[in-house]
Parts: sequence; C-alpha cells; structure tokens
Amino acid sequence: MALLRIHRFPDGILAKEAEKVKEIDGKTAALLNNMADTMYSANGIGLAANQVGVLERVIVVDVGRENDRGKELFKIINPEIIEAEGSQITEEGCLSVVDYTAEVTRASRVLVKGWTLDHKEIEIEAENLAAVCLQHEIDHLDGTLFIDHLSRLKREMYRKRLKKLGDIPDPDPSKSNVPNI
Ligand code: NI
Repeated sequence: MALLRIHRFPDGILAKEAEKVKEIDGKTAALLNNMADTMYSANGIGLAANQVGVLERVIVVDVGRENDRGKELFKIINPEIIEAEGSQITEEGCLSVVDYTAEVTRASRVLVKGWTLDHKEIEIEAENLAAVCLQHEIDHLDGTLFIDHLSRLKREMYRKRLKKLGDIPDPDPSKSNVPNI
C-alpha cells in the first residue's frame, strides 16, 4: 500500500488536461491501486490522477457507504461520458479543495465508457451520487474543479479565505457529511 500526496488548489496541475492512456500496463495498475489506497485513506469517494500529480486519464470511484467500502470500487481508464441527461444539485466537496463545499448542478444520469485494467471496454450507467462522482472525476481529468462551476464571486471568496488561512489545514472528513469527490 502506498499513499500518494494529494495536490490542492491552487496547484497548477489541477488545471491541466490529462492525457489518454495509450497502453494499459503494470504502471497503470500500480497507479490505480495507489490511488484507491489514497482515496480510502482520505475518506474520499473518488480520485482522479491529476490530484496525485499524474496527468493520465485514470480515475477511481467508490460511492459505497461505511461497511460497503471497497465492494464497489471502480478503476477506470480513459473514462468518457457518452450520454448525460436530467439535472441534480448536490453539495460537493473535493480532496483538492480543502475546507470548502458548494452546491453544483450536474446531470442526474450518465453513461460512461472506459477501460478496465484487464483491457476490457466497459460501460457504466450511473445515477445520483455515482453520477455526480463520475462527472466530478472526469472534470478533474479536463483540468476543471467543482469551484469552476460556481460564480466568479464565490470562487474569489474561496481564494481569499485560503489566503487568510495561510497554512492550509488538513481536511477533517469526520466534520462533514458532504462527500469528498
Ligand atoms: Ni475532486
């Protein structure tokens, strides 16, 4: 088990677009396994490679609660939204955006295509929180954070608060019921 350092806003790597994985190999597997360990350790429900400083299009997602953690872990390579419909508003948090949560409007159902570590093409249909999580992670791969969906004013307010805080505190997941995505 290896834990990776989670990069935090305003780290520039979070604003960069990740590149498609051309060959799924042992390195991809190691990265995804370490990302899953890091996600669980930080009490997150999703993590994208940008967040651990790697510009490759891979994500891990597990929206299972408490005792179900680990049972529905998805490691997805080159994920892509091929269908989206409806809309939902969810309070979101992010392991890279500490000490802040906000309501974000996203599609309520998505169909995501991608690849597994054993080179299988998969399609995942998701609703509710799972759909939010997939959209949030795929956003990360495009260099977009959930705060980029907010008004400029709100984003600036967060930026100012971060400055005031100086040393960014470690997030305390037990403090909030808002999912860290
Ligand atoms: Ni995030």
